[in-house]
Amino acid sequence: MPKVNFDILLELLQSKTPPLIGVDISSSSVKLVELSLAPTGYVVERYAIESLPKDAVSDGNINNLDALAATLQRAWKHLGTKIKNVSVALPAAAVITKKILLPAGMSDEDLEYQVESEANQYIPFALEEVNLDFQVLGPAPGNAEEVEVLLAASRKANVEDRVAAAQAAGLNVIVVDVEPYAAETAFTQIRAQLPDSAEDKCVALIDIGATVMNVNVLRNGQSIYTRDQQIGGEQLTQQIQSMFGLSAEQAESAKRSGSLPDNYESDVLSPFRDSLVMEIARALQFFFTSSQYNEIDYIVLAGGSAVLPGLDDAVATRTQVSTMVANPFALMTLSSRIKNRQLQADAPALIIACGLAMRRFDPS
Ligand SMILES: Nc1ncnc2c1ncn2[C@@H]1O[C@H](COP(=O)(O)OP(=O)(O)OP(=O)(O)O)[C@@H](O)[C@H]1O
Ligand SMILES: [Mg+2]
Repeated sequence: MPKVNFDILLELLQSKTPPLIGVDISSSSVKLVELSLAPTGYVVERYAIESLPKDAVSDGNINNLDALAATLQRAWKHLGTKIKNVSVALPAAAVITKKILLPAGMSDEDLEYQVESEANQYIPFALEEVNLDFQVLGPAPGNAEEVEVLLAASRKANVEDRVAAAQAAGLNVIVVDVEPYAAETAFTQIRAQLPDSAEDKCVALIDIGATVMNVNVLRNGQSIYTRDQQIGGEQLTQQIQSMFGLSAEQAESAKRSGSLPDNYESDVLSPFRDSLVMEIARALQFFFTSSQYNEIDYIVLAGGSAVLPGLDDAVATRTQVSTMVANPFALMTLSSRIKNRQLQADAPALIIACGLAMRRFDPS
């Protein structure tokens, strides 16, 4: 498997700073966030979350473009904005990055030609099928005659499907980012809430969504370790369905409202929570064995399943690490349209969409 470098911003399209909406297309829903910038800092103007039909999007692949477009359109209507420009993200797995060395002092044109011919060696698809981008990182370590160049490539289909779905919903994709990078951007807001901005500390950002749990360890704002596991809230929903004879929709809404029979807590929720906690503890062990660090200083739980009752306490107890539920909007001003209580509940799932919305003000 090609290694993915999470520090890279994949700029496949242009990057100016017109107003834009961050759009996270994930397996369970599309999430839209609109921010503005006031003298006092960010303002959360609007956000919307709209459920996707089952399997319309899975593992970052768009299986049902029409369903996605229809959902995007509904979400945008609910958002109630005029802005039609959007930023979207590709999942890390859809992007291949590779550092290569090239002779220093080449013209841009030569560099581009050279990158393309080198890329052939590293990318397991025909070059016609990929969007290719590169960034000169600087002089090669220990060799002034060469420069280090970061290649980033993604299959065109991954980008084109997102652009097409947005277009069908009447939206323009103007920025294509990568999910881990968008998470890093939003993490600046979370880091600022930790003591001394968690300087020189290891923070595990654990995103538990519907199907995937992503563990991302950051140090001084940079990702130093990441790992995905196939576990998420969907498993709990399915257990609720079979235990209480409910449809998927009924189970989903009962899970969120907590309106389930008395034995739910002991027979379903508690064992599921235990399995999540065990996976988190294991993931941290993996990090310790594969890095120079043997301590995590803070755990931040994100994703829709971060708000499962008692999860934060259970994680803190098991790992003995100070644990909080992510709110990337905690330091932002809220527009009077936003219901604070609802945003608190939705915020952990909005990390990627928030990071994408912040791109409006950070056109790197
Ligand atoms: N209040 C709540 N209580 C319990 N679970 C919740 C709550 N709100 C959302 N969830 C769960 O969170 C999950 C959705 O989270 P999220 O939106 O982060 O997932 P996703 O990004 O679509 O999934 P993935 O990252 O796996 O593709 C669903 O399983 C949903 O049931
Ligand atoms: Mg997710």
